[in-house]
Amino acid sequence: MLDVKNLMIFYENALAVNNLNLDVKKGEIVGVFGSNSAGKTTLMNTVAGLTLHMKFREHRKGGQRITIVGQQNFEGEDISNRSPNDRVKKGIVLCRERHPVFRDLSVEENLQLGGFLIKEQVKVQESIDLVYNIFPPLTKLKSRRAGLCSGGEQEMIAIGMALVARPKLLLLDEPLLGLSPVMQAIVVQALKDIRSLEVTVLLTEQYARPIMPHIDRGFIIENGTLIMSGTKEELMDNPEVMSAYFGM
Ligand SMILES: Nc1ncnc2c1ncn2[C@@H]1O[C@H](COP(=O)(O)OP(=O)(O)OP(=O)(O)O)[C@@H](O)[C@H]1O
Ligand SMILES: [Mg+2]
Repeated sequence: MLDVKNLMIFYENALAVNNLNLDVKKGEIVGVFGSNSAGKTTLMNTVAGLTLHMKFREHRKGGQRITIVGQQNFEGEDISNRSPNDRVKKGIVLCRERHPVFRDLSVEENLQLGGFLIKEQVKVQESIDLVYNIFPPLTKLKSRRAGLCSGGEQEMIAIGMALVARPKLLLLDEPLLGLSPVMQAIVVQALKDIRSLEVTVLLTEQYARPIMPHIDRGFIIENGTLIMSGTKEELMDNPEVMSAYFGM
């Protein structure tokens, strides 16, 4: 479904992603693991088209130069030069790290915004109801201002917004970041529900442990470079990987 080929991203002269090859097949949940500054967000933003967008914006301002090399293919089509909006329309939807929500809007209004590219309101409402099914705690918070919600609740809203956009490929950048074990369990359960909706998932995390049982394959990156990839079983059988990323 997604094929990232020989991807290199430079911010000025600094290399953030180094010749990365990564693929995601339809129906899979694929994890990308790496510590701070490994390049996880850069990868996700690039697949979502935001790095390209930033490159144009910086270029217009005459500022920082961003260089993107390599190819991103989605469902057999080269999308490397497509805008973020185009990619959302094709079904690639990113939930950015640290649960960004519109703080002054209600939970329900945030979810409605997730469907801003969808013309039929009925479909948007259907998706919002689905989100309440996936994240039952949100049902009671419909009219609460999102800014007053806890970090875990905001993560549910952020993932919910992405789901309302009806993704084929959902990109989740560190969905468990800063969440309590209880909240982590809710998000992990949601992943199972999301999989049953035939949504393919590419996610990143610093620590693989809580998410590992729920992925199909994983990629480990360090300083932008792929150091290992494999099925869940292959990664879990590797003692070095286990101690570095799984705390075992
Ligand atoms: N807009 C930017 N301008 C310049 N350098 C950047 C920019 N965004 C990221 N970088 C650099 O690129 C490298 C990769 O950063 P990135 O945010 O992708 O890492 P990450 O794996 O998401 O880290 P974290 O776990 O902290 O979120 C870092 O060295 C970072 O400083
Ligand atoms: Mg990041």
